[in-house]
Amino acid sequence: MVANAPEIPSEMDRRFMAAAIRLSRRNLGLTGTNPSVGTLIVRDGVIVGRGVTALGGRPHAEPQALAEAGELARGATAYVTLEPCAHHGRTPPCANTLVTAGVARVVGAATDPDPRVSGQGYAILRAAGIEVTERVLADEAADLMAGYLTRSISLRPEVTLKLAVSEDGMIGREGEGQVSITGPQARAQVHVMRAESDAILVGIGTALADDPELTCRLPGLAERSPIRIVLDRAMRLPLSSKLVRSARDVPVLVASCNVTAASERREALATHGVTFIAAETYENRLALPELLEDLGAQGILTVLVEGGAKTARHFLEEGLVDRIALFTGQAIVGAGGIASPIKRDLVPEGFKLQREARFGEDEYLEFVRTR
Ligand SMILES: NC(=O)c1ccc[n+]([C@@H]2O[C@H](COP(=O)([O-])OP(=O)(O)OC[C@H]3O[C@@H](n4cnc5c(N)ncnc54)[C@H](OP(=O)(O)O)[C@@H]3O)[C@@H](O)[C@H]2O)c1
Repeated sequence: MVANAPEIPSEMDRRFMAAAIRLSRRNLGLTGTNPSVGTLIVRDGVIVGRGVTALGGRPHAEPQALAEAGELARGATAYVTLEPCAHHGRTPPCANTLVTAGVARVVGAATDPDPRVSGQGYAILRAAGIEVTERVLADEAADLMAGYLTRSISLRPEVTLKLAVSEDGMIGREGEGQVSITGPQARAQVHVMRAESDAILVGIGTALADDPELTCRLPGLAERSPIRIVLDRAMRLPLSSKLVRSARDVPVLVASCNVTAASERREALATHGVTFIAAETYENRLALPELLEDLGAQGILTVLVEGGAKTARHFLEEGLVDRIALFTGQAIVGAGGIASPIKRDLVPEGFKLQREARFGEDEYLEFVRTR
């Protein structure tokens, strides 16, 4: 056999990698600027160690899985959903930790675009005589790490546009606030998506019309409500809104212009715990690419845009949507309806269908941008 020749992944490799990817999902949205990575240590077909990137991003998955495996790691196979890191900080790189633990083989999924890692993690392993198989279920692993990968490559968070659309293609009714479009199962799924996101974003139109709370209210997951961002040039967010009233518990960030200028509104909102991010404007709107770049610089990897219509349109027009999460309910909104910019038979060019599901009576279609 040629030294270091890539192994063809077996069915067993694919199954263990699929399990590692499922494990990595556990800490999505909780690992700061690091991706949520899963690692399994497998010996003679049995999982002897498990690790997922810890809350806040450290420790990484590999040392945790190796610690659980202990001596059983020697001669075992490690399944890692992302190439092991190769750069020294205060702790050794994960590639070296795998070498020291004596694993015989490493199976990797996604490749890390971080120039300090890219290819170098695998090179350290190979130089130590470890057999490496790369890119097993790479696309599936990358899909869960899309926030980390997008921020590494494009210096902005991954943007998911979520819309609930009625059977007749509407997202609401003019002047009526929240209109029931989907059922409880679909709404619960949206709360899961919130829990796995770093930030939720809406336009001030939605904040005024719907008075939404935008938190994750699933039993046991309330702690996972992410920061809520409102596009609000003139700081119109009411002090009596649910967002402001809950700002001390779950952060609210108002994206606005003139955030440094002292004003009564600013002071009043700040008193309730609302914080601000300065945004530039063009054509009387907030400049979204720059805003996203600033959010990325603050460590936000994923933004779930939850409407409304104008906000959805502007993100789409500017090519800033990476993923579309489209729920279609059976409700008919009828007269006075606000047309959705996206419907199941009206999806912008450059997106492909990635996932289909049903939540109760509602249809779910997920589209990703083809890169
Ligand atoms: N079914 C669903 O999935 C869903 C989800 C959410 C909302 N909705 C419905 O949508 C309706 C509200 O939609 P909407 O279009 O009126 O309001 P919207 O998109 O929520 O908010 C639009 C406002 O946000 C501010 N904004 C600032 N910069 C912006 C930018 N770059 N792009 C977009 N907006 C920017 C603008 O106000 P300023 O200039 O004052 O800052 C703008 O008027 C409600 O009826 C609600 O029920 C439906």
